[in-house]
Amino acid sequence: MKTGVGLISSLLLFFLMGAVFTQRTPQRKPSGRRATKPFVPKRVVPAGPEPQEPTDFPPPILGPPSIFPDCPRECLCHPSYPNSLNCENRNLRAVPVIPLRTHYLYLQNNYISQLTAEPFNNATEVRWVNLANNRIKRIDKQVFEKIPGLLYFYAQRNQLNEVPSGLPTSLEQLRLDRNHISKIPAGAFSKLGNLTLLDLHYNQLSDSALGKNALKDLKNLMQLNLAHNTLKKMPAGVPNSLIQLFLDKNRIDDIPKDYFKDFSHLAFVRLNYNQLSDKGVPKAVFNMSSLLDLQLAHNQLSVVPLFNNHLEHLHLNHNSIESINGTELCPFSMTADLNDDSLVPRLRYLRLDGNHLHPPIPRDIVMCFRNLHSIVI
Ligand SMILES: *[C@@H]1O[C@H](CO)[C@@H](O)[C@H](O)[C@H]1NC(C)=O
Ligand SMILES: *[C@@H]1O[C@H](CO)[C@@H](O)[C@H](O)[C@H]1NC(C)=O
Ligand SMILES: *[C@@H]1O[C@H](CO)[C@@H](O)[C@H](O)[C@H]1NC(C)=O
Ligand SMILES: *[C@@H]1O[C@H](CO)[C@@H](O)[C@H](O)[C@H]1NC(C)=O
Repeated sequence: MKTGVGLISSLLLFFLMGAVFTQRTPQRKPSGRRATKPFVPKRVVPAGPEPQEPTDFPPPILGPPSIFPDCPRECLCHPSYPNSLNCENRNLRAVPVIPLRTHYLYLQNNYISQLTAEPFNNATEVRWVNLANNRIKRIDKQVFEKIPGLLYFYAQRNQLNEVPSGLPTSLEQLRLDRNHISKIPAGAFSKLGNLTLLDLHYNQLSDSALGKNALKDLKNLMQLNLAHNTLKKMPAGVPNSLIQLFLDKNRIDDIPKDYFKDFSHLAFVRLNYNQLSDKGVPKAVFNMSSLLDLQLAHNQLSVVPLFNNHLEHLHLNHNSIESINGTELCPFSMTADLNDDSLVPRLRYLRLDGNHLHPPIPRDIVMCFRNLHSIVI
C-alpha cells in the first residue's frame, strides 16, 4: 500500500514538473536562447509546425502603477531617478511612449524588432539608449531626429544588416556588435565628430564594406573594435586619434609598412587570430612609442617583431617562433648607460607559449628586460 502511494506521488510529481517545465518555456529571455534547450517531455509536444513569431512571445510584464502619471505601464519609473525609464526584461515587442523627462532609456533584453519615430515624439531629452539583446532589424532614421542630444546608443546583439543612417551628430558611443552588419551606408559616420567609441565586433564586415572613407571623419575616435569580421586588409582611413584598435579574428595577412606612422596615441593593438606571417609584418611596423599592449597571438610569425622600449605587454603565443635572440630583441643598446631608467624596457608581461621554444629563458632576455614580471614559454 505504502509503495503504491509512493509511486503515485512520484508520478504526480513527475507530471507537475513536466507542467512547470512546459509553462516556463515561453518565459525564457532571449539571452537564454543559446543555452541548453529546456526539457520538454516529447509526448506532450503536439505534432505540427512551431508557432510563428510573434505569437510565441509572452505578453509584456506590467508594473505597479507609478507615482509618475506618464510612466508607461510596461516600464518601471523609480521615484528617486525621474530621468530614468527602466523597460528592460519586460517581454516588450514595441517601444512604449517615452515621457519627456527621460534622459536614460533602458530597453535591453526584450523582443523589439523595429524602431519607429512615434514613441520618441516627446523624447527630446534622451541621452542614453540601451537596446541590447532585442531582435531589431530596422531603425527608421526619423528616430534620431527626435533625439538630437543622444550621447550613447547601444544596440548590440540584434539583427541589423547595416549601420543605421541619420545617427545624431552629438553621439559619443555607438555599440553595434553582434549584429549581422555587412553594410555601412555612405556617410553613415561622416558627421559623428564627437564619437569616441565604435564597436562593430562580431558582424560580417568585409574590406569593401568598410571602404576607404567610412571612418575618416571620426576625428575624436578613441576605441575601435572590428574583431570577428571578415577583413583581409587593415582598415583604411582609421582616424589617428585612436587609442585602442581591436582586429582579432579576421583574415588579415599583411600590414602596410607605414600603417601606424601617424598614430601618436595608439596604446592597445590586438591582432590575435589573423593570418600574419613574417612577410606581412614589416620589421619596425610596431615600433611606436605610444604602444603599451600588443597582442599577436595565434598567427604564423616566426620572427619577433621589433618593438619600442615603452611596450608593457606582448602576446606572441601560438605562433611559429623557433628561437629568440635577446640581443636583437632588446630595444636599447646593452652598452648604453644602464643607470638611465628611461632607457630600460618597460616590458612586464611576455607570452611565448604555443611556439617551438623551450625553457630556459635566454640570459640576454633577462638581462635586457629587467622589468619583466612574468614570461610564459
Ligand atoms: C507630449 O508632450 C506634450 C506636452 O508636454 C503633451 O501634451 C503630449 O500629450 C505628449 N505626447 C505624448 C505622445 O506623450
Ligand atoms: C561635441 O562635443 C563638444 C564638447 O563636449 C560640444 O561642445 C559640442 O556641442 C559637441 N557637438 C555636438 C554636435 O554635439
Ligand atoms: C624605433 O623607434 C625609435 C623611436 O621611438 C627610433 O629611435 C628607432 O630608430 C626606431 N627603430 C627602427 C628600427 O625603426
Ligand atoms: C643574436 O644576435 C646578435 C646580433 O645580431 C648576434 O651577434 C648573436 O650571435 C646572436 N645570438 C645567437 C645566440 O644567435
